[in-house]
Amino acid sequence: MLRRLGHITTQLIALMFFSASMLMAEDEAQQSPPPVVPSLIVQTCTACHGPAGNSLSSAIPSIAGLPRDYLRGVMHDYRHGGRFSTVMGRLVQGYDDEQMDLLADYYSQQPFKLHKQRVDWDQAFKGKQLHRLYCRQCHGDLRRAPEPGSPVLNGRWMDYLRWTLQDYLLGVSQADEEMSGALTRLVRRHGEQGLEALLHYYGSARPKSKSSE
Ligand code: HEC
Ligand code: HEC
Repeated sequence: MLRRLGHITTQLIALMFFSASMLMAEDEAQQSPPPVVPSLIVQTCTACHGPAGNSLSSAIPSIAGLPRDYLRGVMHDYRHGGRFSTVMGRLVQGYDDEQMDLLADYYSQQPFKLHKQRVDWDQAFKGKQLHRLYCRQCHGDLRRAPEPGSPVLNGRWMDYLRWTLQDYLLGVSQADEEMSGALTRLVRRHGEQGLEALLHYYGSARPKSKSSE
Protein backbone atom coordinates (compact mmCIF):
# COMPACT_ATOMS: atom_id res chain seq x y z
CA MET A 1 0.00 0.00 0.00
CA LEU A 2 2.79 2.37 0.98
CA ARG A 3 4.67 1.50 -2.20
CA ARG A 4 1.55 2.16 -4.23
CA LEU A 5 1.03 5.53 -2.54
CA GLY A 6 4.65 6.35 -3.30
CA HIS A 7 4.04 5.48 -6.93
CA ILE A 8 0.95 7.69 -7.13
CA THR A 9 2.84 10.56 -5.50
CA THR A 10 5.60 10.27 -8.10
CA GLN A 11 2.98 10.30 -10.85
CA LEU A 12 1.26 13.32 -9.31
CA ILE A 13 4.52 15.23 -9.04
CA ALA A 14 5.35 14.37 -12.65
CA LEU A 15 1.90 15.58 -13.72
CA MET A 16 2.31 18.81 -11.78
CA PHE A 17 5.62 19.52 -13.47
CA PHE A 18 4.12 18.71 -16.83
CA SER A 19 1.15 21.07 -16.42
CA ALA A 20 3.38 23.77 -14.97
CA SER A 21 5.59 23.68 -18.03
CA MET A 22 2.51 23.67 -20.29
CA LEU A 23 1.25 26.78 -18.49
CA MET A 24 4.59 28.49 -18.90
CA ALA A 25 4.66 27.68 -22.59
CA GLU A 26 1.17 29.13 -22.95
CA ASP A 27 2.19 32.23 -21.02
CA GLU A 28 5.14 32.79 -23.29
CA ALA A 29 2.96 32.41 -26.36
CA GLN A 30 0.44 34.94 -25.02
CA GLN A 31 3.03 37.57 -24.18
CA SER A 32 3.19 40.56 -26.52
CA PRO A 33 6.41 40.91 -28.49
CA PRO A 34 9.41 41.79 -26.32
CA PRO A 35 9.94 45.53 -25.73
CA VAL A 36 12.02 47.17 -28.43
CA VAL A 37 14.52 48.50 -25.95
CA PRO A 38 16.27 46.33 -23.38
CA SER A 39 14.93 47.56 -20.05
CA LEU A 40 18.42 48.17 -18.71
CA ILE A 41 19.12 51.07 -21.06
CA VAL A 42 15.73 52.65 -20.37
CA GLN A 43 16.22 52.43 -16.61
CA THR A 44 18.88 55.12 -16.78
CA CYS A 45 16.47 57.46 -18.53
CA THR A 46 13.57 56.63 -16.19
CA ALA A 47 15.51 58.05 -13.22
CA CYS A 48 15.11 61.54 -14.67
CA HIS A 49 12.51 61.38 -17.45
CA GLY A 50 10.01 59.36 -15.40
CA PRO A 51 8.12 56.14 -16.15
CA ALA A 52 7.82 55.61 -19.93
CA GLY A 53 9.25 59.08 -20.49
CA ASN A 54 6.64 61.08 -18.56
CA SER A 55 8.69 63.31 -16.31
CA LEU A 56 7.47 64.09 -12.81
CA SER A 57 9.69 67.16 -12.50
CA SER A 58 8.91 70.46 -14.21
CA ALA A 59 12.63 71.00 -14.84
CA ILE A 60 13.03 67.85 -16.89
CA PRO A 61 11.20 67.38 -20.16
CA SER A 62 8.76 64.55 -20.79
CA ILE A 63 9.99 62.70 -23.84
CA ALA A 64 7.04 60.31 -24.28
CA GLY A 65 5.34 60.57 -27.66
CA LEU A 66 7.73 63.11 -29.22
CA PRO A 67 8.37 62.41 -32.91
CA ARG A 68 10.99 59.74 -33.52
CA ASP A 69 13.08 61.86 -35.86
CA TYR A 70 13.01 64.77 -33.45
CA LEU A 71 14.25 62.53 -30.61
CA ARG A 72 17.06 61.18 -32.78
CA GLY A 73 17.98 64.68 -33.92
CA VAL A 74 18.08 66.22 -30.48
CA MET A 75 20.23 63.41 -29.03
CA HIS A 76 22.57 63.82 -31.99
CA ASP A 77 22.75 67.57 -31.31
CA TYR A 78 23.51 67.01 -27.62
CA ARG A 79 26.46 64.90 -28.68
CA HIS A 80 27.79 66.99 -31.54
CA GLY A 81 26.72 70.50 -30.50
CA GLY A 82 23.89 72.79 -31.58
CA ARG A 83 21.80 72.14 -28.49
CA PHE A 84 22.86 73.37 -25.05
CA SER A 85 22.46 70.92 -22.16
CA THR A 86 23.32 70.56 -18.50
CA VAL A 87 23.47 66.76 -18.38
CA MET A 88 22.44 65.25 -21.70
CA GLY A 89 25.62 66.20 -23.59
CA ARG A 90 27.70 64.04 -21.33
CA LEU A 91 25.13 61.30 -20.93
CA VAL A 92 24.65 60.58 -24.66
CA GLN A 93 28.38 59.89 -24.99
CA GLY A 94 27.63 56.54 -23.34
CA TYR A 95 25.37 55.34 -26.19
CA ASP A 96 26.12 54.43 -29.79
CA ASP A 97 23.92 55.42 -32.75
CA GLU A 98 22.10 52.10 -32.77
CA GLN A 99 21.14 52.40 -29.09
CA MET A 100 20.01 55.99 -29.59
CA ASP A 101 17.81 54.87 -32.49
CA LEU A 102 16.26 52.20 -30.26
CA LEU A 103 15.65 54.76 -27.53
CA ALA A 104 14.03 57.16 -30.02
CA ASP A 105 11.82 54.32 -31.33
CA TYR A 106 10.79 53.36 -27.84
CA TYR A 107 10.01 56.83 -26.47
CA SER A 108 8.20 57.99 -29.60
CA GLN A 109 5.75 55.11 -29.07
CA GLN A 110 4.94 55.87 -25.42
CA PRO A 111 1.72 57.77 -24.63
CA PHE A 112 2.25 61.35 -23.41
CA LYS A 113 0.64 62.14 -20.04
CA LEU A 114 -0.63 65.60 -19.25
CA HIS A 115 0.40 67.01 -15.86
CA LYS A 116 -1.50 69.76 -14.05
CA GLN A 117 0.39 73.05 -13.88
CA ARG A 118 -0.37 76.37 -12.19
CA VAL A 119 -1.23 78.88 -14.85
CA ASP A 120 -2.51 82.43 -15.04
CA TRP A 121 -5.52 82.27 -17.34
CA ASP A 122 -5.25 85.86 -18.59
CA GLN A 123 -1.70 85.21 -19.66
CA ALA A 124 -2.68 81.87 -21.18
CA PHE A 125 -5.35 83.62 -23.24
CA LYS A 126 -2.86 86.17 -24.53
CA GLY A 127 -0.32 83.39 -25.15
CA LYS A 128 -2.81 81.51 -27.27
CA GLN A 129 -3.06 84.45 -29.69
CA LEU A 130 0.73 84.76 -29.84
CA HIS A 131 1.12 81.03 -30.44
CA ARG A 132 -1.31 81.26 -33.36
CA LEU A 133 0.63 84.12 -34.90
CA TYR A 134 4.20 82.95 -34.39
CA CYS A 135 4.53 79.28 -33.52
CA ARG A 136 1.47 77.23 -34.44
CA GLN A 137 2.34 76.63 -38.08
CA CYS A 138 5.17 74.30 -36.99
CA HIS A 139 4.35 73.27 -33.43
CA GLY A 140 0.62 72.65 -33.86
CA ASP A 141 -2.06 72.82 -31.16
CA LEU A 142 -5.18 70.95 -30.03
CA ARG A 143 -6.54 70.92 -33.58
CA ARG A 144 -3.40 70.72 -35.63
CA ALA A 145 -0.62 68.11 -35.53
CA PRO A 146 2.89 69.58 -35.46
CA GLU A 147 5.03 69.55 -38.59
CA PRO A 148 7.21 66.45 -38.81
CA GLY A 149 10.40 67.19 -36.88
CA SER A 150 8.84 69.87 -34.65
CA PRO A 151 8.19 68.85 -31.06
CA VAL A 152 4.79 69.44 -29.47
CA LEU A 153 4.74 72.40 -27.06
CA ASN A 154 1.13 72.21 -25.77
CA GLY A 155 1.00 70.54 -22.37
CA ARG A 156 4.78 70.48 -21.87
CA TRP A 157 6.44 71.51 -18.59
CA MET A 158 6.62 75.33 -18.39
CA ASP A 159 9.93 75.44 -16.50
CA TYR A 160 11.67 73.24 -19.04
CA LEU A 161 10.30 75.34 -21.91
CA ARG A 162 11.28 78.61 -20.20
CA TRP A 163 14.95 77.55 -19.92
CA THR A 164 15.00 76.01 -23.37
CA LEU A 165 13.70 79.23 -24.93
CA GLN A 166 16.32 81.25 -23.06
CA ASP A 167 19.01 78.95 -24.49
CA TYR A 168 17.81 79.75 -28.03
CA LEU A 169 17.62 83.48 -27.28
CA LEU A 170 21.10 83.53 -25.74
CA GLY A 171 22.37 81.68 -28.80
CA VAL A 172 23.81 78.69 -26.91
CA SER A 173 21.21 76.50 -28.72
CA GLN A 174 20.69 76.95 -32.44
CA ALA A 175 17.20 76.78 -33.93
CA ASP A 176 16.71 76.70 -37.69
CA GLU A 177 16.42 80.05 -39.42
CA GLU A 178 12.63 80.18 -39.61
CA MET A 179 12.13 79.39 -35.95
CA SER A 180 14.86 81.87 -34.91
CA GLY A 181 13.07 84.48 -37.01
CA ALA A 182 9.71 83.78 -35.37
CA LEU A 183 11.21 83.91 -31.88
CA THR A 184 13.13 87.13 -32.53
CA ARG A 185 10.06 88.86 -33.97
CA LEU A 186 7.96 87.76 -31.00
CA VAL A 187 10.46 89.10 -28.45
CA ARG A 188 11.00 92.35 -30.38
CA ARG A 189 7.26 93.08 -30.49
CA HIS A 190 6.02 91.59 -27.23
CA GLY A 191 9.12 91.36 -25.00
CA GLU A 192 9.68 88.97 -22.10
CA GLN A 193 5.99 89.34 -21.23
CA GLY A 194 5.09 87.82 -24.56
CA LEU A 195 7.31 84.83 -23.85
CA GLU A 196 5.83 84.38 -20.40
CA ALA A 197 2.29 84.54 -21.84
CA LEU A 198 3.22 81.80 -24.32
CA LEU A 199 4.48 79.61 -21.48
CA HIS A 200 1.20 79.96 -19.57
CA TYR A 201 -0.64 78.94 -22.71
CA TYR A 202 1.57 75.84 -23.16
CA GLY A 203 1.10 74.96 -19.47
CA SER A 204 -2.68 75.13 -19.83
CA ALA A 205 -3.15 73.68 -23.31
CA ARG A 206 -3.62 70.18 -24.59
CA PRO A 207 -1.77 68.68 -27.50
CA LYS A 208 -3.66 67.08 -30.36
CA SER A 209 -4.37 63.52 -29.30
CA LYS A 210 -3.08 60.81 -31.62
CA SER A 211 -6.45 59.09 -31.84
CA SER A 212 -8.27 62.19 -33.11
CA GLU A 213 -5.88 62.67 -36.02
C1 HEC B 1 20.40 62.94 -14.76
C2 HEC B 1 19.11 63.18 -15.38
C3 HEC B 1 18.88 62.68 -16.79
C4 HEC B 1 19.04 61.40 -17.29
C5 HEC B 1 19.58 60.17 -16.56
C6 HEC B 1 18.58 61.44 -18.66
N1 HEC B 1 18.15 62.70 -18.99
FE1 HEC B 1 17.50 63.33 -20.83
N2 HEC B 1 17.34 65.23 -20.12
C7 HEC B 1 17.67 65.65 -18.83
C8 HEC B 1 17.63 67.11 -18.78
C9 HEC B 1 17.90 67.97 -17.54
C10 HEC B 1 17.28 67.55 -20.07
C11 HEC B 1 17.25 69.00 -20.59
C12 HEC B 1 18.59 69.24 -21.28
C13 HEC B 1 19.76 69.30 -20.28
O1 HEC B 1 19.85 70.28 -19.55
O2 HEC B 1 20.58 68.36 -20.25
C14 HEC B 1 17.07 66.34 -20.88
C15 HEC B 1 16.67 66.35 -22.21
C16 HEC B 1 16.45 65.21 -22.98
C17 HEC B 1 15.87 65.21 -24.31
C18 HEC B 1 15.36 66.40 -25.09
C19 HEC B 1 13.86 66.51 -24.92
C20 HEC B 1 13.28 67.64 -25.71
O3 HEC B 1 12.12 67.99 -25.46
O4 HEC B 1 13.94 68.16 -26.59
C21 HEC B 1 15.87 63.91 -24.74
C22 HEC B 1 15.39 63.38 -26.08
C23 HEC B 1 16.42 63.10 -23.67
N3 HEC B 1 16.76 63.93 -22.61
C24 HEC B 1 16.57 61.73 -23.73
C25 HEC B 1 17.12 60.95 -22.71
C26 HEC B 1 17.34 59.52 -22.81
C27 HEC B 1 16.96 58.68 -24.00
C28 HEC B 1 17.93 59.13 -21.64
C29 HEC B 1 18.42 57.74 -21.25
C30 HEC B 1 19.47 57.22 -22.09
C31 HEC B 1 18.06 60.32 -20.79
N4 HEC B 1 17.57 61.41 -21.48
C32 HEC B 1 18.58 60.34 -19.50
C33 HEC B 1 17.99 64.83 -17.77
C34 HEC B 1 18.32 63.49 -17.87
C1 HEC C 1 9.37 77.12 -39.05
C2 HEC C 1 8.95 76.20 -38.02
C3 HEC C 1 9.01 76.68 -36.58
C4 HEC C 1 8.46 77.84 -36.05
C5 HEC C 1 7.68 78.95 -36.74
C6 HEC C 1 8.75 77.77 -34.62
N1 HEC C 1 9.44 76.63 -34.32
FE1 HEC C 1 10.09 76.06 -32.51
N2 HEC C 1 11.03 74.43 -33.30
C7 HEC C 1 10.99 74.10 -34.63
C8 HEC C 1 11.84 72.94 -34.83
C9 HEC C 1 12.08 72.24 -36.17
C10 HEC C 1 12.38 72.60 -33.56
C11 HEC C 1 13.38 71.52 -33.24
C12 HEC C 1 14.73 72.18 -33.20
C13 HEC C 1 15.85 71.24 -32.90
O1 HEC C 1 15.92 70.18 -33.52
O2 HEC C 1 16.66 71.57 -32.03
C14 HEC C 1 11.83 73.56 -32.62
C15 HEC C 1 12.09 73.53 -31.26
C16 HEC C 1 11.49 74.37 -30.33
C17 HEC C 1 11.63 74.26 -28.90
C18 HEC C 1 12.39 73.17 -28.15
C19 HEC C 1 11.38 72.14 -27.67
C20 HEC C 1 11.98 71.02 -26.85
O3 HEC C 1 11.27 70.01 -26.64
O4 HEC C 1 13.12 71.12 -26.40
C21 HEC C 1 10.90 75.26 -28.35
C22 HEC C 1 10.73 75.55 -26.87
C23 HEC C 1 10.32 76.02 -29.44
N3 HEC C 1 10.68 75.44 -30.63
C24 HEC C 1 9.52 77.13 -29.27
C25 HEC C 1 9.01 77.89 -30.33
C26 HEC C 1 8.23 79.10 -30.14
C27 HEC C 1 7.88 79.69 -28.79
C28 HEC C 1 7.91 79.54 -31.38
C29 HEC C 1 7.10 80.79 -31.74
C30 HEC C 1 7.67 82.04 -31.25
C31 HEC C 1 8.47 78.61 -32.35
N4 HEC C 1 9.14 77.63 -31.66
C32 HEC C 1 8.35 78.73 -33.73
C33 HEC C 1 10.28 74.74 -35.63
C34 HEC C 1 9.63 75.95 -35.49
